Amino acid sequence: MELIEKIKPIEDMEVSGKTILLRVDLNSSVKDGKLLHSPKVAEHFKTIKKLLDAKAKVVILSHQGRKGREDFIDLKQHRDKLAEMLGDEIGFYTWNSNYEKAIKELGEGKALMLDNTRFLEFEAENKSPEEHAKEPVIKKLASLADYYVLDALSVAHRSHATVVGFIPLLPSYAGPVLMSELRALERVKKIKDNSVLILGGMKPEDSLFVMEKMLKERRVSKVLLGGALGELAIMAKGAKLGIKEKFLEEKGLLEFVPEVRALLTKFKGRILFPADLAVRRNGLREEISLAELPVNDMIFDIGEITINTYENAIRKAELVIYNGPVGKFESYQFAFGTRKMFDALAGARGFTLIGGGDTVTAMIRLGFKSTEFGHVSLAGKALLMFLTGAELPALTALANAKIRE
Ligand code: 3PG
Repeated sequence: MELIEKIKPIEDMEVSGKTILLRVDLNSSVKDGKLLHSPKVAEHFKTIKKLLDAKAKVVILSHQGRKGREDFIDLKQHRDKLAEMLGDEIGFYTWNSNYEKAIKELGEGKALMLDNTRFLEFEAENKSPEEHAKEPVIKKLASLADYYVLDALSVAHRSHATVVGFIPLLPSYAGPVLMSELRALERVKKIKDNSVLILGGMKPEDSLFVMEKMLKERRVSKVLLGGALGELAIMAKGAKLGIKEKFLEEKGLLEFVPEVRALLTKFKGRILFPADLAVRRNGLREEISLAELPVNDMIFDIGEITINTYENAIRKAELVIYNGPVGKFESYQFAFGTRKMFDALAGARGFTLIGGGDTVTAMIRLGFKSTEFGHVSLAGKALLMFLTGAELPALTALANAKIRE
């Protein structure tokens, strides 16, 4: 039996009057402490609304950012956004507050939100569901609820406390966002020949393992690199970038250069990286060849020669997976490469899959609609891991959940 068939959707639950711990993924881009427009908030809102309309009492749980990073903020802005969309109050409770009382007093059709789950020291420890279930905070929350619902594929690869810890303690279900992702991905998994994976963004630490596995097992034919990974590949080939290197160093990304070099050698010809780049010079976009490196200008995008090569590969592919913007899409001038990738995907004959919070944010910001693509996933690394065939702890736990209603 396929994993997906063992996971129960919320349609199987009787929710009226029941208290539900709903683990969503509201983790979104943050700039200067401000939450940017988030497709995750918009998607999970639909689940929250659905449960509230059915008279459930909903306790919303999510993480935001990673400790030590700029995006590690509280969830008040997320709550404000959801409450505004709902047109009703959503209580907000920090981990030091008397949230226990608030959950007990929550009315039917009402929701409250607990703060960033990663403010809990134990949240991000990788432990089994059973070990996490022993944690007093997890036990306390479970004792106040009737059901646990996981609604995010994007966190299913994390064996974190609020993702898997309730599953041994409560009847557990998958929400509509998670179910629709699983259904689409089951279809995608079957296409193996002539497939292309575009990897960009600023999280190479997450992408390298996936890239190696997918190339090794021939789950994708080619990988096209952009963003930080593209720049690391250029360095792996011996070039010096110039001032951009300082930025990559500050982000702790330079240590990945040897790994990228090893992958380029191992999968010769199957990993494409930028042949030209776009930099900001005197406030304007200017394209440079690799021969011009190193430069005293920040690199923010791939250049047109690279775009043409990538477009050709996309055009011919049976399946194109786009994970991670190839440039600084927040800036009009440097969104060019990312926009061109979306254009190519929208016109592609193969099945197209967009994944990752930043990629979906870029898609919306650049004016594309999810209906222009085969499937738009809110998951980044979890999506790629799923496609590599790796076991995602939260899905395994949901499929094997022992406590049934
Ligand atoms: C994501 O944005 O991919 C998810 O929210 C998971 O975040 P994480 O990589 O920090 O665990």
